[in-house]
Amino acid sequence: MKKKMVCYIVMAALMLSLLVGCSSEKISDSTPESVAYSSYSDVKIGICIYQLADNFMSLFSNELVSYLVSKGFSRDNIILLGSANNDSVQLSQVEELIAGGAKALIINPVNSSVAHSITDLAASHNIPLVYINREPSGDEENRWESYQLDVCYVVCDARQSGIYQGELLLTLGNKALDRNGDGKIQYFMIEGAPENIDAGYRTLYSVSTLKNADLQLDCLLDEVGNWDCATAQLIVRKGIKEGLIPEVIICNNDAMALGAIEAVEQAGLKPGEDVYVVGVDALPEAIEMVQEGKLLGTVYNDYVLQSHLAADAAINYLQGNGNEHYIGCDYVKVNRDNAQDIIDAINNKK
Ligand code: GAL
Repeated sequence: MKKKMVCYIVMAALMLSLLVGCSSEKISDSTPESVAYSSYSDVKIGICIYQLADNFMSLFSNELVSYLVSKGFSRDNIILLGSANNDSVQLSQVEELIAGGAKALIINPVNSSVAHSITDLAASHNIPLVYINREPSGDEENRWESYQLDVCYVVCDARQSGIYQGELLLTLGNKALDRNGDGKIQYFMIEGAPENIDAGYRTLYSVSTLKNADLQLDCLLDEVGNWDCATAQLIVRKGIKEGLIPEVIICNNDAMALGAIEAVEQAGLKPGEDVYVVGVDALPEAIEMVQEGKLLGTVYNDYVLQSHLAADAAINYLQGNGNEHYIGCDYVKVNRDNAQDIIDAINNKK
């Protein structure tokens, strides 16, 4: 019922703006709440993370909270909620945050489709909104542009991370990768989550980078590990037990790469010698594995920069200033040669 009401309000506002021929005006004709603040200590900010147990999102959200505190927000006014990977839970959390007086929202959507309703809710209350990590659909982003909504999206382009994974493998050359010398690279693909844009792009672009370099590939197994270490470990263990011997394991993230490495070792194989594993994120444990040579490489998913950009975007909105609707940042390839530099760079940026 509440959702319907919000829809009606937003639709009415949209129709009004069309009628008066000013589709470039704000979605609501009331005065935006964004006023310049001289201090943020009393300003409430709401954050929803699709799932707090996710290793990468937990690093991201911790950094986001510390950065907001460093910018003058009081820890008590930063409401950080985990959405239990459930879009209706997330939607009611957004309603509660708005009802509780949040002046800005930073949301990691459970999936791209829930973003539409979240945007409706925020826009109808004139609350600025910053999406992080999971991309809302293209249509949704066009709507922010058409109606000049205070909504933006901060992210690294997942295609780049897939390409970098492929390039990390290519540094070894075909001969080293093709351990059994049959002219093909036998590989396992461990994907993040179904219909997740990062997972889709990383899978597609890692493989196409190898194919573009004329490598012959033989996919032995392609399964979803839900970004999770234990799930990936089970998948890889089962595959090897069934007699599938990969030369390469490509994982959509590091948590799953760590699980894959454990399974490889349990099977009596040597990661970094018998099987080459690559991940994404550059979790601290994964960088250690790179230094030990067990993980061939990973790709730094710059959570420090992304969390700072997201907080800065929310602050810009609160100050009555706009933001680009898409705020991008770059991934960085991590191998044994630059692993220590990456650790130092992360620590320096914090
Ligand atoms: C990715 C990250 C994964 C996982 C996922 C959640 O960017 O690499 O580890 O956190 O986001 O959407």
